[in-house]
Formats: sequence, structure tokens, C-alpha cells
Amino acid sequence: MSVTAKTREPDIRRRLSGFAERFERVLADMVTAGPEVPAELAEAMRYAVLGGGKRVRAYIVTRACELCGGSAEAATPAAVALECVHAFSLVHDDLPAMDNDDFRRGRPTCHKAFGEAVAILAGDGLLALAFDLLTSRIAKPEVAAAAVRELARGTGWAGMIGGQTTDILSERKPVNLERVQRIHRYKTARLVETAGRLGAICAEADAERTAAVAAFGDWLGRAFQIADDLLDVTGDATVLGKAVAKDAEAGKQTYPAAVGVERSREAARDAARKAVDALAVFGPEADDLRQLVAYVIEREK
Ligand code: IPE
Ligand code: IPE
Ligand code: MG
Ligand code: MG
Ligand code: MG
Repeated sequence: MSVTAKTREPDIRRRLSGFAERFERVLADMVTAGPEVPAELAEAMRYAVLGGGKRVRAYIVTRACELCGGSAEAATPAAVALECVHAFSLVHDDLPAMDNDDFRRGRPTCHKAFGEAVAILAGDGLLALAFDLLTSRIAKPEVAAAAVRELARGTGWAGMIGGQTTDILSERKPVNLERVQRIHRYKTARLVETAGRLGAICAEADAERTAAVAAFGDWLGRAFQIADDLLDVTGDATVLGKAVAKDAEAGKQTYPAAVGVERSREAARDAARKAVDALAVFGPEADDLRQLVAYVIEREK
């Protein structure tokens, strides 16, 4: 199928929103604090991780696990852990010292709602909770250890945090396509690759299937961030639930700044095709992920 075919895209929109609704309840349950947790910290962490989000990463963890022969239940702790890390990345990304944003998911950002100090701590708390969940909710020690290692690598200095560092340190420098691609690879695609890999780990998959879902995540992540850059230029803030036209103002290294809107759209389609190609080892049972690719580059939010 063509990755830009809109014909079956409504299916994935429905599937993803159904999944997000069910997943929200699981998340609300797993991110429940004991009485020893400061109430304001628990509230800020729940505010950041609940109440919105497309849950694309959790969906990939779950479906990658199923495609690799595991169950959705086996993938749940890893899917929750990854959404905790993602929420942490957003809370810190929005801070005044980083992108300085007031709105996220249609609501005030965490630091606007709880103040900067509590927001920083809520991000830290979500990161720590992610690893707590992996080790306490995955029964097999070797699976838990592999999941911890993958999430740490996807998140850390050679992953999302490394990419965010390059993104911030490259502000107001001459825009350079090679640098944009490096930023996209690390700040976004690496953690989406982790989504695929976590699914494979929870399914105890073989090397071939692991490589397939990892490559799928990487390319989907790249397409995802090009689309995110494009939405900052062409999107609607009300639909997106976050401000637009911020990247150019901040002098960010983005795809449209490097090559313009049209060539960025082409690059998104190219990355999307590679994501679909990565699914070749799977048959029609991976069609929803093929549709997810189309959705990611066509989305309005
Ligand atoms: C936003 O991610 C941050 C990026 C990596 C572009 P999403 O667009 O997946 O955010 P939510 O979770 O759906 O709000
Ligand atoms: C953020 O990229 C990527 C993260 C790791 C959080 P952006 O800064 O472009 O994400 P938005 O546009 O604020 O969601
Ligand atoms: Mg940013
Ligand atoms: Mg941002
Ligand atoms: Mg953005």
C-alpha cells in the first residue's frame, strides 16, 4: 500500500484512539502514589502523564510485542514505562530553560500549573518511576534487565537526552540538514526505536524480528519528527494543543528551515516508506502499523 493512501487511515485513527482510551486507565492505575509521596509531586506527575497524548509509543510497544509472538499484557509495563519517559521528556522540553512553552496537550504545561521546581522534580520522578515499573512488573529477571538497558540507552546521553542537548545547543546556528537529521535521530527516533525494541524484548523475540521492529521505530520516529516540524509551520495551535510558529522564532534546526516545506514533506514520505519496508518480514497482521505510518505523516496533531 502507498504510505500516503488516506483510504484506510480512518481505521488506524479509530484503533489508536480506542487503544489510548484503554491505555489511559492502565496508566492511571500504575501511576498511583502511596501515602509517602508528597501530594503535589504525585499530582504533577499524574498531570504530566495522564489526560491526553496520542499514545503512539505505547501502541508500538504493544503491537511490536504481539507481532513478535508475545501478548499485549506482556508489553503493558514497558508501554507504561515508555510513556512515563516520554512525558518526562515533554515536561523538561517545555521548561523556560528549554523551549519555554505554556501549552501542552491543550492545557497549561506542567511548570505553568505547578511551578518550575515541582515540574523539574515531576520529570525526574517519572524517569525513575519508569525503571521502577520495569523491574517490579516484569516477572522474568532477564527480560526486565534487557528492558531496563534498552530504555536507559534510548533515553540517555546516546539517546533522547543527547538529541535534546544538540537541539538546544544548536539554536540560532546556521541551519544544516545533516545536523537536523542527527537531532531528529536522537531526540525523537531513538526512543521510538526503543518502543519497537521493548516490544521485541517483552516477546523474547528472535534477532530478525527484533531488527525489523527496531528499524520500523527508527524510521517512523524520523517521519514523526519531520511531521512535528511541519506542524509547527503549517498546523493549528488549537488542534495541536501546543503553540505553533515557535521553532523559527527560537532559531531551531528544523527540517522546513533546512529545506523548505515541500522538500520536508518529501523527506517525511521517504522515511515513511522506509518504515513500511522494515515491516516486510511481517505479513498482513502488521497492516495497522503500515497505516500508522500513513497517519503519522498526515496527522493534524
Ligand atoms: C511530541 O510527541 C514530542 C515529539 C517528539 C515531537 P507527541 O506528538 O507524540 O506527543 P503526545 O504524547 O501525543 O502529546
Ligand atoms: C521534542 O521536540 C522532542 C522531545 C524529546 C521532547 P519538540 O520540542 O519539537 O517537541 P514539541 O514540538 O515541543 O512537542
Ligand atoms: Mg524541543
Ligand atoms: Mg518543544
Ligand atoms: Mg516541535
